[in-house]
Amino acid sequence: MMDSTMLSSREGLAEALRSRDPEFNRALLDEAYRVKCETVGPEVYLRGLIEISNRCVKNCLYCGIRRDVRCRRYELTEDEVLDAARTAAQQRFGSVVIQGGERTDRAFVEKITRLIRAIKALPTEAGDPPLGITLSLGEQPREVYEEWFAAGAHRYLLRIESSNPDLYARIHPADHSFDRRLRALQELKECGFQAGTGAMIGLPSQTAEDLAGDLLFYKEFNAPMVGMGPYNPHPDTPLTRSGVPYPSEKERFLLGLKMIALLRLLMPDINIAAATALEVLDPRGRELGLLAGANVFMPNLTPEQQRRQYNLYDRKAVGGQWSLGQSLTDGKIRIGYGRWGDSLRFRKEHNC
Ligand code: 5AD
Ligand code: SF4
Repeated sequence: MMDSTMLSSREGLAEALRSRDPEFNRALLDEAYRVKCETVGPEVYLRGLIEISNRCVKNCLYCGIRRDVRCRRYELTEDEVLDAARTAAQQRFGSVVIQGGERTDRAFVEKITRLIRAIKALPTEAGDPPLGITLSLGEQPREVYEEWFAAGAHRYLLRIESSNPDLYARIHPADHSFDRRLRALQELKECGFQAGTGAMIGLPSQTAEDLAGDLLFYKEFNAPMVGMGPYNPHPDTPLTRSGVPYPSEKERFLLGLKMIALLRLLMPDINIAAATALEVLDPRGRELGLLAGANVFMPNLTPEQQRRQYNLYDRKAVGGQWSLGQSLTDGKIRIGYGRWGDSLRFRKEHNC
């Protein structure tokens, strides 16, 4: 059943997600790859990922760097961040993502502002534009979003984590607010950011209908970019300790790929990231994500020592080098070196 009714209703999407028919699943992933190539092209855009700090004021029940986890906390110095960004420029990645736990203290906000300006001023290889900057630093007051946008960042990732308010409430402590998250996403858009969002896939008690709802949420929000990935349990978190069951590794991995594929069919012209969380479940997970319709890849540029401490979940990859396996992808993936790789949808809507 690969027809338009599958994409037009929550039930159709949920049914596609539930399917265990290997032929259907294969055809779905292949079709998404075809639609990707036809719409946004076969190029993959790179974002050098810089995990700036594992300090966080929040306490999300699934997260390995939540406030209450006792672990070594770090914060990269400005020089360390700039060194990583220089590597991105030299390797012609085109963009960087600065990601970290949520912090709203003024010293942190100003550090980010300074870093954005400094990264924009870094030299790039001949002919390349200055590095593009994506931020992923949680919920902030609108003035902070404005300050960071004015300093030169132009994309922001803020996952909704789950579009079902009840499930959102089950995976967050009582002082976290779904509505506040929605407002923050709206404000990011109003400030001019390309606002990306996403959710975790295969959470305890999450249903196929919830996941279908996530896809419809991305469409409703008109997200120019989405980064979503499988839930990976972390042993020291309340969600893992609660014992509520969640799908097996194999199931979460397949669901992760199928969510990418369905989203590509639903929103052909957006940017979709092949999330790092896919790699935990399969060493070639991110490449398979690219072959299932994703077009953004984030090589990790965090210095290795700190990378080990950015433990969002168990077995997060700490390996040094990034690569896109030539044999597996068999020439099916080309890298868009030295480009920002903004989402086609956003460029069409803003004539840029
Ligand atoms: N499994 C998968 N993803 C996780 N994140 C946090 N904890 C986990 C986990 N246990 C994701 C969240 C957050 C991003 C920074 O990391 O979706 O938005
Ligand atoms: Fe902090 Fe993000 Fe982890 Fe929540 S998911 S605890 S906001 S780093």
